[in-house]
Amino acid sequence: MVSVSMFSASPSSFNLSFHFGLGNNWNFRTFARPSACLSQESRNLEPSKKQDKTSGIGKTRSATKDQIVISDVRISQQESSPPLVTALKASAEQNAAAFHFPGHNRGRAAPSSLTQLIGLKPFLHDLPELPELDNLFSPRGPILDAQQQAASLFGSLETWFLVGGTTCGIQAAIMATCSPGEILILPRNSHISAISAMVLSGAVPKYIIPDYNFDWDIAGGITPSQVETAIKEVDKEGQKPAAVLVTSPTYHGICSNLSEITQLCHSRGIPVIVDEAHGAHLGFHPQMPNSAMHQGADLAVQSTHKVLCSLTQSSMLHMSGSLVDREKISRCLQTLQSTSPSYLLLASLDAARAQISENPETMFGKALQLAIETKSMIRKISGISVLDAQSFPNFPAIDPLRLTIGFQQLGLSGYEADEILYEDHEIICELVETQSITFAMNLGTCREHVQRLVSGIKHLVAASASTPAAKRKVEGGNSAPFADIETSLIPRDAFFSGKRRVSIENSLGEVCGELICPYPPGIPVMVPGETITKKALDYLLDVRSKGAVISGASDPQLSSIVVCNM
Ligand SMILES: Cc1ncc(COP(=O)(O)O)c(C=O)c1O
Repeated sequence: MVSVSMFSASPSSFNLSFHFGLGNNWNFRTFARPSACLSQESRNLEPSKKQDKTSGIGKTRSATKDQIVISDVRISQQESSPPLVTALKASAEQNAAAFHFPGHNRGRAAPSSLTQLIGLKPFLHDLPELPELDNLFSPRGPILDAQQQAASLFGSLETWFLVGGTTCGIQAAIMATCSPGEILILPRNSHISAISAMVLSGAVPKYIIPDYNFDWDIAGGITPSQVETAIKEVDKEGQKPAAVLVTSPTYHGICSNLSEITQLCHSRGIPVIVDEAHGAHLGFHPQMPNSAMHQGADLAVQSTHKVLCSLTQSSMLHMSGSLVDREKISRCLQTLQSTSPSYLLLASLDAARAQISENPETMFGKALQLAIETKSMIRKISGISVLDAQSFPNFPAIDPLRLTIGFQQLGLSGYEADEILYEDHEIICELVETQSITFAMNLGTCREHVQRLVSGIKHLVAASASTPAAKRKVEGGNSAPFADIETSLIPRDAFFSGKRRVSIENSLGEVCGELICPYPPGIPVMVPGETITKKALDYLLDVRSKGAVISGASDPQLSSIVVCNM
């Protein structure tokens, strides 16, 4: 069990005791290990050797049937060659007599139902923390190399690879900046990971109600003046916020003015954390909005797997400046992440970085051009609207690769339109909501799929025109569920308090005991500790009737709800 007192341990003693005490994948390190290999202890204590371009002391093992010979070989690294991918390749190519985890034994015992689907290679490269593959929590070799190259590409002082998605990066960022009882300023429509981070850290939320476009039924970002007001309100209560969290871009691509927000926060010594889950590609083209790191953020967490091309669940946490303690970030990540990180995920981060490094300025040129053309074609279809910067005039930019299409004029909900596009045209979107559907465009988006989308929408318009108007429902006019929030307990106290179940009719005025979140888009409507309002109840019942999955609620039908015993 990792205790809070570990935060005061010195970094080196912490790392050593943690790994030797809890890691289950160190025992095999004695396996076939001649003196050429560093012991684990000396690896941990040794200063990094991996600063230059010819980095990477790889250990290749030439194998005969009976004998394994290990020799030190310096792997020459090209500027763009991914160090962790290279190390994984070399390690998988050994003819090792493997007595280590995972039990599929480099694919020898892989379940055939899966190998028939994906082949043996993923299993062959699904290796544990072997010495030549470095250690995620105490990197000295190819992981350090890979993270440093990522830091240089994304403009950070330090970058951490994450195997628990942006979810664990947000949790680590909030735990590292907010101690129990300290105040975190954040948008009310923050991702669920920010809420669980407050349960973990004991932070007290100070919510900012985001801009809301009622025609689209979509929340925007937060403005510098909203942040300033929140800081002043906290100040009036004699406190100083421990951190400010901003989600930028949002799921719909709306970018907040991070430069101004970071300036006003830094002038008061407050660190800014950016949930940049949807923005790992930002800044990699002159027509793209700037990334959070380039706008002065202290911490930015990016889902590399969302718009860039790493494997699902792999993300990066970037740090800049000196307001945040890097040791605390490391320890929080160590507390939150698996002691058996997947090298497929880690190597995919390295590979995604290398892919962009090949041509960072122009990589997104084609995708951007296609996105511009697509939007222009769709705008010409009568009855269809495209979300653009004018829909959120208080915000400086919108991600050009995010395409949100509205069906309000047709009297169709996003859920109904999605069903038609999927059933009739096999078009699969990223996000469906009451008034709109959002499509994610990326490096893999091709013209043929865009044409299918455009013609699918044209068919949908034609079909809806032939449907008698009386049969069409005009959905909409919902009010934002985030207004009028009353917090009775902080998320952590509510999480651990006694609970009981009441019928939905009797829940009004009770303190919510569960996190209730229509998914997508994964924005909590009720957070544990908040008083249940009529507005929030009406919104939930409404989106449920339109097809949203209500995640987090123990009764997904929402006929009952768990509340806190007060
Ligand atoms: C705004 C936002 N933040 C954070 C996350 C969590 O990201 P991940 O899935 O990488 O854990 C998501 C996921 O959809 C998100 O939309």
